[in-house]
Amino acid sequence: MLKEFFIGLSQNQFLNAAAQKYGLKLGAQSVVAGTDIHEAIETIKELNKNGISATVDNLGEFVYDREEATAAKNQILNVVEAIHEAGVDAHVSLKASQLGLDIDYDFALSNLREIVAAASKYDMFVNIDMEDYARLQPSFDILDELSKDYGNVGTVIQAYFHRAEDDIRDYKDYRLRIVKGAYKEPASVAYTEKEDIDRNFIKLIEYHLLHGKFTSIATHDHHVIDHVKKFAEENNIPRDQFEFQMLYGFRRDMQLELAKEGYLFTTYVPFGKDWYGYFMRRLAERPQNLNLVAKQVFTP
Ligand code: FDA
Repeated sequence: MLKEFFIGLSQNQFLNAAAQKYGLKLGAQSVVAGTDIHEAIETIKELNKNGISATVDNLGEFVYDREEATAAKNQILNVVEAIHEAGVDAHVSLKASQLGLDIDYDFALSNLREIVAAASKYDMFVNIDMEDYARLQPSFDILDELSKDYGNVGTVIQAYFHRAEDDIRDYKDYRLRIVKGAYKEPASVAYTEKEDIDRNFIKLIEYHLLHGKFTSIATHDHHVIDHVKKFAEENNIPRDQFEFQMLYGFRRDMQLELAKEGYLFTTYVPFGKDWYGYFMRRLAERPQNLNLVAKQVFTP
């Protein structure tokens, strides 16, 4: 129930627009690394000091006009330059909808192409985050197009989709982030029971570790992390073939611990004014995150 409530809120464009005006509120500041790139770079420097890399998301969604999508593209180009200039260990995560996918496919493709081209000059990886089912195939199509010319681009496999097993086979030669999946999807396209999603998640991770290129295991689930550690050891998967990823502000002790144990680790660092949808999805995933909200509302 709560999950659906927060996913519903995450899709509310009116509240999203209101939230943009008021800056980071409701506890969002503990999981969003500021509203501008300078704040994000400071956060990344701190992570790097602890041996942790970053993937930077200049937050943005609900983009329905070309001007906004062009502005988002320019901001992300600015992020690429800022990462390079600061010399920090980081790459970029972005969403096709942010760059105009809901307006026009070719327009979005050309925006993404510009970003991937700019990042390739610095040998910087660009991850196309995956959104809901309606945007899944077009996002794969964009990846197919871009990878004809560039090798610094990859995407996400969401374990709740029935088609994920086929997708991971088709994209095994890519650097992939594997996740459980964050959007509300119908049973016609996705597993809806936690046990089924978890089972498929492990299956996909194991497949990509054994057959694929670099694997990013993105989860806060310690059961999965423990399983992966054991699986990698038993199957002699070299430590430079995979990494763990978690979101900024979640399970910080575990993030530090995994890095200390010598695992590659990347923290997903979101920043920007468009924090609302991202924050609501985090509340949907784990209602305990409401503690973040409560603390902010009830402390002066
Ligand atoms: P889940 O929320 O299922 O939790 C499993 C168990 O782990 C819990 O029962 C609890 O025991 C423990 N646990 C979890 N969080 C905890 C916490 N904060 N403190 C203590 N214990 C905790 N989704 C998507 O659709 N597209 C995308 O592109 C991405 N990208 C992405 C990047 C990164 C870096 C991450 C970490 C996640 C994503 N996701 C995503 C989101 C993903 O699909 C998923 O919704 C969330 O990660 C939540 O699922 P988990 O696997 O983290 O565990």
